Amino acid sequence: MCGITGYVGAREASEVVLQGLHTLEYRGYDSAGVAAFINGNINVVKAVGKVSNVEEKIAALGTLKGAHCGIGHTRWATHGAPSDTNSHPHGTENIQIVHNGIIENYAPLRAMLQSNGFTFVSETDTEVAAKLIEYHYNNCHSREDALVYAMRDIIGSYAIAVMFRDCPETLYAIRKDNPLIIGVGEGENFVASDIAAVLRYTKTYYQLGDLELAIVTKDSICMMDMDKKEVSHPLLTATWSIEAAERGGYDHFMIKEINEEPEAVEKTLHPRIRDMMPNFEEENLSDERLKNAKSVTFVACGTAMHAGLVGKTAIEQLCRVPVKVEIASEFRYNDPILSEEDLVVIISQSGETADSLAALRLAKEKGAYTLGIVNVIGSTIAREADNVIYTWAGPEISVASTKAYTVQISLIYLLTIKMAYLKGKISEAEAKEYTRILYEDMPSLIKDTIAKEEEIKDAAKLFAKYEDLFFIGRGIDYHLAMEGSLKLKEISYIHSEAYAAGELKHGTISLITTEMPVIALATQEELYEKMISNIREVKARGAKVLLVAREGAKDAAAEAEKVIYLPRCEKFFTSIPLATVLQMLAYYVARERGCDIDKPRNLAKSVTVE
Ligand code: G6P
Repeated sequence: MCGITGYVGAREASEVVLQGLHTLEYRGYDSAGVAAFINGNINVVKAVGKVSNVEEKIAALGTLKGAHCGIGHTRWATHGAPSDTNSHPHGTENIQIVHNGIIENYAPLRAMLQSNGFTFVSETDTEVAAKLIEYHYNNCHSREDALVYAMRDIIGSYAIAVMFRDCPETLYAIRKDNPLIIGVGEGENFVASDIAAVLRYTKTYYQLGDLELAIVTKDSICMMDMDKKEVSHPLLTATWSIEAAERGGYDHFMIKEINEEPEAVEKTLHPRIRDMMPNFEEENLSDERLKNAKSVTFVACGTAMHAGLVGKTAIEQLCRVPVKVEIASEFRYNDPILSEEDLVVIISQSGETADSLAALRLAKEKGAYTLGIVNVIGSTIAREADNVIYTWAGPEISVASTKAYTVQISLIYLLTIKMAYLKGKISEAEAKEYTRILYEDMPSLIKDTIAKEEEIKDAAKLFAKYEDLFFIGRGIDYHLAMEGSLKLKEISYIHSEAYAAGELKHGTISLITTEMPVIALATQEELYEKMISNIREVKARGAKVLLVAREGAKDAAAEAEKVIYLPRCEKFFTSIPLATVLQMLAYYVARERGCDIDKPRNLAKSVTVE
């Protein structure tokens, strides 16, 4: 995820800013840059790759030496591949900005600016924001008004730090739906996306509010709303160590990343929704491709493969198109049967998984149209697929994948709605209603799920002492059982099996004893009674049962030791909140057992070997 630091005071600005960028490196990034005031000009140094590349460039050029006010950025690419040109800061000789977030309407804004004589050198949405501010400034001659006008124009989320050439030794900042803090020092002040960046220098800070702007000099901080009325915020004091601050105060990256799911889903879906309909124009995904696809094959590994299983249920149900889900390491040697009318979707968080990449190359060789659903921009799978749709989950650091999976399935749902509409399987009104739920309800629904933390923690205590357990479910719940089981195995080292509930009695029920607890997923109304029968079967053999069910599920409490109710959700999408519950359950079981949650034994985040 991108990071911002800014400094104004007596110290060497580039050193403070670089120090802040180093502290933000844990977030993951692919390029970095710094801008600082020197002799009435704003000088910029930026480079693709590590912060140390920028550091070396700054030392070699010497063009930032002696500056006392500057801004810096670590970029996690969204619009445009990682490159020197796409790195932040962006702007002109008059204005430079660094930006976290996504400007959803950057395309029409860029067109408007082009028709007003602006030219662009990068592919970024950030350059559009910079030039938009300059455009307004040229017209209104007030820096504050220019920022307010830009905030009015921009649809999306942002934290932006700005330097105006004609206002040296001053930092401006604006934000919406993206964190931005103002660190308070003595004779020096800071702006940053994250308190971690400035903790070395100060522990006190203000949190800038949504749709507010700040003007920061070495001895003054002024925060105001869109009407330019001054606002005040409490002065906060960070109590975290630098290490804890890097995790945003969370004990592990895994739980931090689960907590980022509402925002990640919003960032991934919102730019692809227009007039409450799915819209993949930016990705050049033609309607014809989706409409004419005779079959869909998801190919992936691990958690990403499980996202494909959710896709299978969703697409088959809504589009009535046959879907296959293939493990990439199998697919690549199985001589798959594919033709031009088949759509092959490669799902990969990293975009570098060796088996998934080999599967992609094979699918292309066989003539299928390939679509990547990838989190890391510019990664090999993203570059080689015929088309790519990025999941904008931000970097995932914990080895066990959580938010990446949640955004993968959310995006697949959006694609499904589009495909079903194009194939005439649902009406425009139905498509809009499904899309609205994803757009409006889903982020807060995931928040409501995360709010069940204490209940989930309690349930986790039930299972932490066992060495084996079963997950059971039917339909989509079976697919979620597979993911819940994988998550638990990965990080808690408890052996578990995910079973289709109806299949249990064809053999494996012989394993059910008082020492074999069962986690039963029963979120589908039409399969609920069947699941209750299966639960009774395992209970009769002594198993303790945790049931995860819809809110209001009939007599649930009487059927299990413990019940976790999902927040009320349209049934087509229950796998999204259910995924969050299972991720948190695995997390708290692993915690109870004292496991090294973010770095489980023997596992790697990105598996780039066969
Ligand atoms: C590894 C990770 C899993 C991940 C899988 C696929 O096994 O430990 O969490 O799901 O790779 O990775 P990808 O980057 O292709 O999604």
